[in-house]
Amino acid sequence: MSRGMTGGKTGGVTGGMVIAVDGPAAAGKGTLARRLAAALDFAHLDSGMLYRAVAAKLLQAGADPADPSAAAGIAESLVAADLGRDDLRHEAVSQAASQVAVIPAVRTALLAFQRDFAEHPPGGKKGAVLDGRDIGTVVCPDAAVKFFVTAEVGVRAARRHKELIESGEESIYARVLHDLQDRDARDSAREISPLRAAQDAVRLDSSKLGPEAVFEAAMDLIASKSAS
Ligand code: CDP
Repeated sequence: MSRGMTGGKTGGVTGGMVIAVDGPAAAGKGTLARRLAAALDFAHLDSGMLYRAVAAKLLQAGADPADPSAAAGIAESLVAADLGRDDLRHEAVSQAASQVAVIPAVRTALLAFQRDFAEHPPGGKKGAVLDGRDIGTVVCPDAAVKFFVTAEVGVRAARRHKELIESGEESIYARVLHDLQDRDARDSAREISPLRAAQDAVRLDSSKLGPEAVFEAAMDLIASKSAS
């Protein structure tokens, strides 16, 4: 996938400030990243949507999500409209996304797009917030501020279950919990770009903190980094 330009640097230095938000499934990364981007007037990229779009197209084509050449072909030809599909949050797509995410050629195909977004935020914005699993470790290792958002697995499953019900999908809590544990295990165990906190990431545990408290803690940290 291409945005027309690919940058060589990895920290988004030329595009202004880059904020990386990583963490396991349903930890609240997306909520935090969206709020930060709105407050700072930065562009926001939910990198999980790229993997989800590859997975959704594969499933639609009746291909096996674990088939490296089919997955790589789709990742290489992804277009912006694919990110607007309305099935990207379905549970089947979530599982398939974490399967395609272990395929090195898929990750390589999506890397240039993510770096380009960080370095040249769309809309002339002066910075970018990217959320995912490997933003602080691989995509933007020089990001100015890195967060690793976590929460107890039961709390995360309850959140995702509620989201699915609210979006009109059928959902069984025990299955959501199982799927989430499965996905976390696959994301953490993969050889390439595994889910882990960057050494210089600040950990935010959202188990007992609401979205507002997590956002405020993150903004305080960004302010202190900008001042230093
Ligand atoms: O929203 P949720 O946390 O459930 O998932 P997501 O961020 O949309 O990511 C879906 C899947 O894509 C994850 O389970 C990962 O396998 C993969 N992913 C990745 O490998 N690297 C990223 N930077 C983002 C997502």
